[in-house]
Amino acid sequence: MKRIENIPLRRIIAGWFLVLVFTGPGFTGIPAAADPLPERIVLNLTQTPHLSQAVTWRSEEKGEIPAAQIVPVSYLLEAKSHAVTVKADTCRVQTGEQQDVFHHSVVFEPLIPDTEYAYRVGDSPDWSEWSRFETASDRKDPFRLVFFGDVQKQVAALGSQLFRTAVMAVPDAAFWLFAGDMINNGPDDREWAEFFEAVSWMPKTFPLVPVPGNHEYPDPRFIPENERVITPLWRPHFTLPDNGPPGLEETVYSFSYQGVCFVVLNGNEQMDVQAEWLETVLSRNTDDWTIVAIHQTVYPIFTRRHDTTFQEILVPIFDRYAVDLVLQGHDHGYARTLSLKNHQPVTGTEKGTVYIISNSGPKFYPVSDRYDHLMARTGSKEMLFHTIDVDETTLRFTAFDLMRQPVDEVVIHKNIP
Ligand SMILES: [Fe+2]
Ligand SMILES: [Fe+2]
Repeated sequence: MKRIENIPLRRIIAGWFLVLVFTGPGFTGIPAAADPLPERIVLNLTQTPHLSQAVTWRSEEKGEIPAAQIVPVSYLLEAKSHAVTVKADTCRVQTGEQQDVFHHSVVFEPLIPDTEYAYRVGDSPDWSEWSRFETASDRKDPFRLVFFGDVQKQVAALGSQLFRTAVMAVPDAAFWLFAGDMINNGPDDREWAEFFEAVSWMPKTFPLVPVPGNHEYPDPRFIPENERVITPLWRPHFTLPDNGPPGLEETVYSFSYQGVCFVVLNGNEQMDVQAEWLETVLSRNTDDWTIVAIHQTVYPIFTRRHDTTFQEILVPIFDRYAVDLVLQGHDHGYARTLSLKNHQPVTGTEKGTVYIISNSGPKFYPVSDRYDHLMARTGSKEMLFHTIDVDETTLRFTAFDLMRQPVDEVVIHKNIP
């Protein structure tokens, strides 16, 4: 929703005049003027979240000088003299039958670590309201994030409820990570509109870390599996670290956040290329913790899913580099494995990997018992969100239901030498 207080009075008066003219007996069918205010404003983390911050938005009009302004929150009331203006990069996007829209992005840098900033976006004088974010620190300070599985269906009607519950439960989240299938039909701009309606102002303050799911690709019933490419609406909506393998830009990426190495994989294509890249990233990793996010499941729990591709390709690498946590979606149920290595629960003090499958929407699949010998807990028919609290010695993963009740938890301990 747009904030009417940002609309100049002359525009409000003109708007009412147009309503009166176009709904009156003399209505000629001339389309209303495009809304000049920015919409779908979303923060994303960069490769260096202690030094920079990405913001993306879109507008119906191209505008003259799309830009973003930033000021330390402590100077917000003197923003007129202290704000820095950064010109945006803009791309034109065709959204189905509708007219073209314009997506804009800015990366604010260099920023000061562990500092709260206010920013706004638009095309002067049509600015958004001011929003705020906080840069990561440059130390291994404790932090928490929120993790969601597939939302996919009834995103505005019910996904919104989970988002509101999460923001009230975790007002200090560093960012929100989505494990893919955020919507049901990635090429459909109306579904992206629904997603942004559901998340409302939240991605203006909590940067999104999106993982591409299969539903961010075209439906394989209409386009053959090997010809599918991610929806052309993905990259314009987000500004993500561009450090993945060539050809998989902004769908495969990594970043370091206060002592945790995060790796986002794209389970939809070129897994061999990604395995090689992952090996390189993890071999250079100096963080205390490693969390990998991929939409598709390594040990599937959906009764009709038997694919072992991800086990074969990824588990040897996860084992070799002692990945702590793997976050997944796709199976529309909940699962948390025991700590695993070489497809078996570890014993004693041996280091293993915990695999999570989450579901955050109202679409549910039956859960199989095929991997019950690896599971600590499975569940179905729950819309869940999760907190991940990290400090130097422990990683606490908690699952919450729509009633904000904790329904599962695991604490992973790190024995730092
Ligand atoms: Fe899904
Ligand atoms: Fe999926």
